[in-house]
Amino acid sequence: MRILGIESSCDETAAAIVEDGRRLISNVVNSQIDIHAEYGGVVPEVAARNHLEVVNPVVRKALADANCTWGDIDAIAVTYAPGLVGSLLVGTLAARTLAVIHDKPLYNIHHVEAHVYANFITEQGVNEEIRQLNLPKSQPAFPMLALIVSGGHSQLVLFRDHGDYELIGQTQDDAVGEAYDKVAKILGLPYPGGPSIAKAALNGNPRRYQLPKAHMSNPLDFSFSGLKTAVLRAVQREVGKDFTFPSHALAGLLTASQRDDFAASFQRVANETLVDKVLLAYRQYDPASVVIAGGVAANQDLRRQLADNLPIAIQYAPIQLCTDNAAMIATLAYYVAQKHGPADPFNLEVIPSLSMTESMIREGV
Ligand code: KG4
Ligand code: ZN
Repeated sequence: MRILGIESSCDETAAAIVEDGRRLISNVVNSQIDIHAEYGGVVPEVAARNHLEVVNPVVRKALADANCTWGDIDAIAVTYAPGLVGSLLVGTLAARTLAVIHDKPLYNIHHVEAHVYANFITEQGVNEEIRQLNLPKSQPAFPMLALIVSGGHSQLVLFRDHGDYELIGQTQDDAVGEAYDKVAKILGLPYPGGPSIAKAALNGNPRRYQLPKAHMSNPLDFSFSGLKTAVLRAVQREVGKDFTFPSHALAGLLTASQRDDFAASFQRVANETLVDKVLLAYRQYDPASVVIAGGVAANQDLRRQLADNLPIAIQYAPIQLCTDNAAMIATLAYYVAQKHGPADPFNLEVIPSLSMTESMIREGV
């Protein structure tokens, strides 16, 4: 079964073709990072307008790269939740229209659940870009423990099978990616903050600044807002200013080595917090596999810390498939299609704030 996936929930317009939920044939991602970098974060209206301009060319390129015509496509899959409403609308309207025009079944896919499915892509087509991806050798086994860490979500989810999962931990405030982005702003590092912090941290001393780890009543839950504030207070102390000094001007007073040491110290503590929770969940649930997913799963220090501490191998996708893409959407759609029928292309609506658990209940698996 060959599925064309479309993703537009935030600031990437993406289309990809995946066969049988494992073989990646083409993968096109048009990132708006350069556009939003000017504003230091995603501007929703600008994102939606840009999706509108590029969605058709992106889909066409996904077909061309795969050497496919519409006759070769068995189904279309699209992100319908969660995300920015204007952004989601562009992708779903494109997918609904294409499904009607080309008479293809349409599958609505939950973005956060799909991040996990980047780990199920184990085979690749012949297209130049795709051949360069270093894919995992085998798919994760169930029960599978997934750490999902992105700009909008930080969750620990136990998958018993496809479509059968339980949320066992989640953030009580900021997502970890959001903390990376906010701390980068405090330190004067460019958007998106995750890759900027990881880069600065390479030159920094991760033990120079002592930062706190939150204690939660459910030990598998997270909280990152205190860590972000602790960085702000420590920076203020370091440059001799208090809370009355504008926070956007603090970075200008830091030396390069102070900035890099803050980046490294924050990264260490944020990642240690994630690793502590994964280890706890591992001991409690004894899963057959552990995967990481979402944009923060691209972080090399997180991968290394997990690999060093977990008794079994940690599984992750190549960086290009950790950040937002449509390959993960087309991959998950294959497993969704095994369990239930397609959506109605005339009525599919977007749901900007639907959790994974709500989505599972809605889809009635
Ligand atoms: O999954 P994603 O592309 O979009 C969402 O669904 O949110 O995740 C984006 C998040 C951003 O917060 C970004 O700063 C973070 O992932 N990120 C990273 C890295 N690459 C992206 N965080 C830490 N280290 C990285 N290398
Ligand atoms: Zn995402």
